[in-house]
Amino acid sequence: MLLKSQHIIMDLFDKILKNRGPLGQHAKDSHGYFTFPKLEGEIGTRMVFRGKKRLIWSLNNYLGLANHPEVRKADADASAKYGLASPMGARMMSGNSNEHEQLENELSAFMSKEDTILLNYGYQGMVSAIDCLVDRHDVIVYDSEAHACIIDGVRLHMGKRFVYPHNDIESCEKQLERATRMVEETGGAILVITEGVFGMSGEQGKLKEIIALKNKFNFRLFVDDAHGFGTMGKTGAGTGEEQGVQDGIDIYFGTFAKSMASIGAFISSNEQIVEYLRYNMRSQIFAKSLPMPLVMGALKRLELLRTQPQLKDNLWKIVRALQNGLKEAGFEIGKTQSPVTPVYMKGSLGEATNLIYDLRENFDIFCSAVIYPVVPKGVIILRVIPTAVHTIADVEYTIDAFRKANVKLKAGEYASEKIASF
Ligand SMILES: Cc1ncc(COP(=O)(O)O)c(C=O)c1O
Repeated sequence: MLLKSQHIIMDLFDKILKNRGPLGQHAKDSHGYFTFPKLEGEIGTRMVFRGKKRLIWSLNNYLGLANHPEVRKADADASAKYGLASPMGARMMSGNSNEHEQLENELSAFMSKEDTILLNYGYQGMVSAIDCLVDRHDVIVYDSEAHACIIDGVRLHMGKRFVYPHNDIESCEKQLERATRMVEETGGAILVITEGVFGMSGEQGKLKEIIALKNKFNFRLFVDDAHGFGTMGKTGAGTGEEQGVQDGIDIYFGTFAKSMASIGAFISSNEQIVEYLRYNMRSQIFAKSLPMPLVMGALKRLELLRTQPQLKDNLWKIVRALQNGLKEAGFEIGKTQSPVTPVYMKGSLGEATNLIYDLRENFDIFCSAVIYPVVPKGVIILRVIPTAVHTIADVEYTIDAFRKANVKLKAGEYASEKIASF
């Protein structure tokens, strides 16, 4: 610590170590078990956690594609043929290929949009797309429960941003009125951003209602459909298709990290906007393009997603059994309208950790828990992600285990001060 002209100058590292962040402060107690757990073995419903097979409910492998034999073969063949290096460089400079363009064309056709741009990561792609689409004269209107990548994109925005309470269309309309007054002065335009399926609550964004507001206001709609792509709509084309408003989505974002069980992402829109993105999105201009095995793997996954509707049918069979079963067993699962299944319970942080520990160690069930500060103090959410490869027996076993754990929770059996030791 240095004293310079009466001011104490803190060392940056000392400062960081004093406040390790809302999650980082628990690192010592949680690392390796509650946070950064290691799931080993092939991706599926049974994986090894700490030396023992567990029933896994925490992976967004919605359609079960991660371990589909055709997918594994396509990934292996492409890796053998191209290696991970190819193509080198950013798309704009030296990293383009016919296969990248083929994937973009196939995605455009599937999404019923004119054109598509591939993104090498979903998160940074969203941040960068928002950054690229608006300037300081423009106003962003967005949902309060938007994913971190939207929030971070909005943070980069130099102009005004107005947030509306989650899915509150009346407030959204009020913010659009404010935004309209603002852009009348600045000469800018309005971008509304929401999600197709909200990844924590499983609720759908009110796309239909937002799109109806286009009758009153001039704005463009950007939808992050990370959880909806592949799971929602008749063909799996997402939440816009589900709500019958695909055309009203001006800019559609999907990731390969969930239903497609891979990595990478894409944005579909009209031709001129995608061309604008290609030539202006900093995360794509200044970063290496998607490696060829990921592109070839995505082509195979998209083919299966399109041609094997039974994958989505299986998913929804499990979703219905799980969500109906939980409700019948008296559990609160909020307002989910998608496969994402939150199970709400009440308890302290200590109770949450003991509960999760019991589920993992004594019932061999691995699911994620969401606790404070992500949700208010006293709320525990078990976040259960059903997939096409789960079985009805998995669902029944899990509901029964949750029921037993909830009885213990209510009886105060998890209330010990001591956090489960592992
Ligand atoms: C709503 C939403 N948007 C964007 C992302 C980021 O996607 P990716 O994992 O492809 O970076 C995620 C993933 O967690 C997400 O849930």
